[in-house]
Amino acid sequence: MQRRSSRLLIGLAVLAAIAGGLLGAFLSGGGGAPRIAVPARHGSPPALKLPLGSAVRLDAAQQDKPYLRDFLATFTSLTPENAMKWDETEPRRGHYTLGDADALVDFAQRTGRRVRGHTLVWDQQLPAWLTGGSWSAGELRQVLEDHIRTLVSHWKGKVESWDVVNEPLENDGTLTRSLWLNVLGPGYIATAFRAAHAADPDARLFLNELAAERPGRKQDALYALVKGLKEQGVPIDGVGFQNHTTVGNPPSEAQLAATFARFEALGLDVEITEMDVTIPPHHPTTDRILARQAQAYRDAAAACANASRCTGLTVWGVTDRWSWLGAAKRPTLYDAHAGPKPARDAVLAPLRK
Ligand code: G3I
Repeated sequence: MQRRSSRLLIGLAVLAAIAGGLLGAFLSGGGGAPRIAVPARHGSPPALKLPLGSAVRLDAAQQDKPYLRDFLATFTSLTPENAMKWDETEPRRGHYTLGDADALVDFAQRTGRRVRGHTLVWDQQLPAWLTGGSWSAGELRQVLEDHIRTLVSHWKGKVESWDVVNEPLENDGTLTRSLWLNVLGPGYIATAFRAAHAADPDARLFLNELAAERPGRKQDALYALVKGLKEQGVPIDGVGFQNHTTVGNPPSEAQLAATFARFEALGLDVEITEMDVTIPPHHPTTDRILARQAQAYRDAAAACANASRCTGLTVWGVTDRWSWLGAAKRPTLYDAHAGPKPARDAVLAPLRK
């Protein structure tokens, strides 16, 4: 009697687990992998001399049709805004969750967009198992190489270029004190590039930095860093200048041109990888402030179009509503209602064939 009742309990437990799993799958949208529906009729971007991209959020692409319409009518390149970051892709050591990023890569492939992978190594958006661990150099290096090899080989041939290392420098030009630097030393940067190249020798590999668009200590440190990598034979192909800026003080076309030429002389490609142009939240949305924003975008696009090795310009967000900066700062090409701002035509003009 005792044995029969325990078998019954076990059976009920198994049934409950199966039912729970099915319910969970149903609640997460029917159990299938996430996907972005391509609208039946959508605009196509103009013919451009080089890729114009945007960071794309999966949640926005799935629920905001005007967001998707604006992306498809404007941009020829896609950067997953967060879906490829470590906390999203390897929430537990050796356990990879790539479905969200797969949906974005699949959408880009179905609509003929280039994909920039972002980002393999950063000191932010790291999962607790990584930041909370006490690591030997050998073990952390293995973790780093496993992560990079898994992601880069998973999207081999689908991701055209990677932000391999993101923001390794402080504004004073010193290396950011991160888990990577503290345990592995500055060599973590070369290790990351070598692991990415081994996994996909055809992908272009970038070091991506912010606030280095103009001359100064940070740009000099960035120059010395990438020059050293090149001299060591590290497989680095380019430098990404994020260009998060403001209407008050954007880098001029001449300043960007000089920066691009400086790094191109090292035998590197350059890209603007995360541009947005903040309007102070308290400032009313006047024609004048929108024109100043448009000028900043035009200048960046002109500098890239006229440079010898600028291979793309990416805006960090499709519409103001979904910007990481918040809609009040109105930083993108499309307003909070997905309507075009003067910046949209201004950034396209220098890039049109
Ligand atoms: O997805 C979770 C959601 O489930 C949760 O309810 C919510 C509130 O906690 O958080 C959501 O995650 C947020 C994620 O954006 C998606 O919206 C994270 O907390 C938030 O930290 C994350 O911010 C991102 C930020 O990088 C992280 O530092 C921004 O979206 C993203 O635009 C921004 O992008 C960075 C580049 O990767 C590197 N260069 C700088 C740039 C701006 O910081």
